Formats: sequence, structure tokens, C-alpha cells
Amino acid sequence: MSKLAIIGTGYVGLTTGAVMAHLGHTVKCADIDAAKVEKLGRAELHIYEQGLHELVQAGLQSGRLRFVVGAAEAARDCEFAFLCVQTPQGAQGEADLTWVLAAARELGEVLPADAVVINKSTVPVGTAGLVADALGRADLTVASNPEFLREGTAVADCLHPDRIVVGARDEHVAASVAALYVGIDAPVVLTDATSAEMIKYASNSFLAVKLSYVNEIAALCEQLGADALDVVKGMGFDQRIGRDALKPGPGWGGSCLPKDTAALSHMASTAGSEVGVLRAAMTANDRQLRRVVEKIAECTPSGLRGARIAAWGLTFKANTDDLRASPALSIVGALLEAGATVVAHDPMVHTPPVEGIVLADDPVAACQGADVLAVLTEWSAFALVPLAEVHTAMAGAAIVDARNLLDHHHARELGFQYTGIGR
Ligand SMILES: NC(=O)c1ccc[n+]([C@@H]2O[C@H](COP(=O)([O-])OP(=O)(O)OC[C@H]3O[C@@H](n4cnc5c(N)ncnc54)[C@H](O)[C@@H]3O)[C@@H](O)[C@H]2O)c1
Repeated sequence: MSKLAIIGTGYVGLTTGAVMAHLGHTVKCADIDAAKVEKLGRAELHIYEQGLHELVQAGLQSGRLRFVVGAAEAARDCEFAFLCVQTPQGAQGEADLTWVLAAARELGEVLPADAVVINKSTVPVGTAGLVADALGRADLTVASNPEFLREGTAVADCLHPDRIVVGARDEHVAASVAALYVGIDAPVVLTDATSAEMIKYASNSFLAVKLSYVNEIAALCEQLGADALDVVKGMGFDQRIGRDALKPGPGWGGSCLPKDTAALSHMASTAGSEVGVLRAAMTANDRQLRRVVEKIAECTPSGLRGARIAAWGLTFKANTDDLRASPALSIVGALLEAGATVVAHDPMVHTPPVEGIVLADDPVAACQGADVLAVLTEWSAFALVPLAEVHTAMAGAAIVDARNLLDHHHARELGFQYTGIGR
């Protein structure tokens, strides 16, 4: 078993640290946010991920998991240091490497001889070289080990990944990083760092293309009278297509797909090239968000100004508390801008995330006096809310179900004007 340092305790770092401790490694997780570190030391988590609290608690109890302030404090005596810091979108669409390079500079000053630095953050192709420069030490090696976990199922994804990808110039180093995932049964792809970095962007961008394609097919289904849910069911059984990421919805969002597609597109144009299909997927996604707003507007014949909209869900998908680049928030923002009143309920959101929004304690309370109910996040609890109560609470009787979550037959039987996506 090895001594690991994990730099950054966000969705990726905290999950990786807790899982690595669970696998038997000795793990020090570092963050620059002292308040987060102090809470984590008491197993109080600042993010929500199913099963993560239990794993952190077990790690602390075993003594194999510790939390410290600052990368240097974690890395002084480690063999492997994972960079799990944020890489947000920069002004031109590029990934901003400020945090990655700052952390690498800190590590360069303290790492023991021959340690391996592992990029787990999603970083542009060629970043391994930049990190090596920032470390400024010839004895250190940089490997790329992109992370594919999905928020909402992060722990399960880390314990049962579809694959483990490790890239490094030296094959032995790559193999030693892959060996850290002891006990995890998954195909391992060993390659060079550049290809590993590309695998991450190519994968996320492919998912974005797939999602946009399905949303465009769903729009066509509406026009031609087909049911998009039956259509994707029929498509998904084809193993070349697969069932995952084949759901029509309000458009893709979250902390990864928007910034990663923008970064790949930026990389391509910097290289004098273009991934045309990706550009089209990005444009289609903007259109999809607008389409949902239009569907809501169509339900308010006298216009959105002064209309009261109930919004169910604000997080970018169910089972997470993450609001970053949430399609729900984009839609709510557009509704507010058009002069509507938005009363929202989300089980994970307890303070207003945008100015002007009103939060309600439960889904039915959000519907009180509403003209339209918009279902924006696919929390399974929403499907269990008695629609008869919703009907009584609302002033109008229109539902725009951007997640195709509710029982549309039942909704129509109750007298709702129900609009889904692609049906
Ligand atoms: N969130 C996901 O679903 C996901 C999935 C796969 C890959 N990724 C990638 O992983 C990376 C991290 O994503 P995230 O969502 O966990 O980010 P996050 O913003 O949730 O967490 C990053 C953490 O790093 C800390 N940090 C920044 N600089 C530091 C430093 N010098 N020392 C110690 N801590 C520092 C921040 O305080 C923060 O807590 C990003 O590159 C992202 O693209 C994310």
C-alpha cells in the first residue's frame, strides 16, 4: 500500500481520497480552504454524494484518511500526489490552469525524491509537460489519470469504473499508478500522458454530442408525431449505440460537459483545426435550453411577464447538490429576465442561488397559485407527488416536464395541459 497526497477536496478529490483510503492506502487530502478541512476532519462534508459520508467516516476511524490545509502539508512524505483542483472555463473557452500550476509549484518544493505527480483534474492536452515545468524537478514524473466519475454516483463510479486510464512517458510509472487501484476490477488503458489527456476530452465531448443528438431527434419527434421515449428505447438496444446518455432533456450542463466541450473546441481552433460536430452539439444545446423556455412561454398566453412559474429542481441533475452550469438555473434565469415570478423547490437547495428566485419548502408549496409547473431536475421524489394536490394548488393547469419524469397519462386525466420533451 502507498502513501498518497490528494490536492483538492471537491467532488473528485474527496471521493478519490476516501476511496483510496478504503482500498488500504494512507491518504492525506489537502485543501486551501481551512474551513472545509476543519469540517472534513469531523466527517462533516461540504458536498453531497451518496455513500461518501460513510466512506470518509470509515477512513478517519481507520486512521488512513486525514485532512490538512495546503498541498505542501499533504505531500511532504507521499509517494504519489494527485492533483484534483478545479480547471474552470477561461475567457476564450480554454481550461484555466491557474490552480493546477499553482498547486504543482507548491508540490515541487516539498515532494520527496522520485515521487509521481498525477493529473486527475481535467486538463488540456499537453498539460503534463506544463506541470513538469511548474514542478521544476528532474526526479519527479508526471502522469495523467483522468477521472470519469459522474456526480450523483461518484462513489459507485470510483469503486466500479468502466475503465482506468493512465498515461505517462515511462510505462513503469503508468503501471505503478494503475496498481494503486488495487482490488478494483476494470479494464486498464496504459498510454502516454498526451493520449490520456485526450481520452478525457474526447469522451466528454462524445457524450455531449450524443445528448444533443437525442434532443434534436426529440424535437423532430414532436414535429412528426413520434414518441421520443419509445424512439430512444428502440435505439438503445443497439449495442453500437447503447442506452446511456440517450435521454431527451432540457440540455446538458453541470461542472464538466460545458467547460470540457468549450476547452476541446478551443484546443482544436488553437491547433488550426475544428471539430465541427462538437460545435453543432454546443449550438444545439443552447437551442434546447431556449426551447424549454419557449414551451413554458406557450403555456402563458398573456406572456411570461407577471406569470407565476413553479420550478421543480435547480441542481444540474438529480442526486447532487451541484448547481454549476445547471440547465435548470439557465431556464430560471431566462424566466426571471422575461418578468416571471419563479417559486422553486429543490431538495438540496436551501438558499436562493439566483437573485429574484423564491424558494418553497416542498414541491406542492412551490405550485401554490402557479400558472405553469416546470419540472427541471429529475429528482425521483417529484414523480411521487400527488398530482391532484398540485392541480388544486395551482392557478393554471399547465405542466412542462423537461425531464419526462411525471406520469403524463395521469396528468392529462387530471386535466393538466402536459408538455414533455419529444412526445
Ligand atoms: N465534478 C465532476 O463531476 C468531475 C468529474 C471528472 C473530472 N472532473 C475534473 O476534476 C477537477 C476537479 O473537479 P471538482 O468538481 O472536484 O472541483 P471542485 O471545485 O469541487 O474542487 C476543487 C477543490 O480544490 C481546492 N484547491 C484549489 N487549489 C488548491 C491548492 N493549491 N491546494 C489544495 N486545494 C486546492 C479548492 O478549494 C476546491 O475545494 C476538475 O478539473 C474537473 O474538470 C470533475
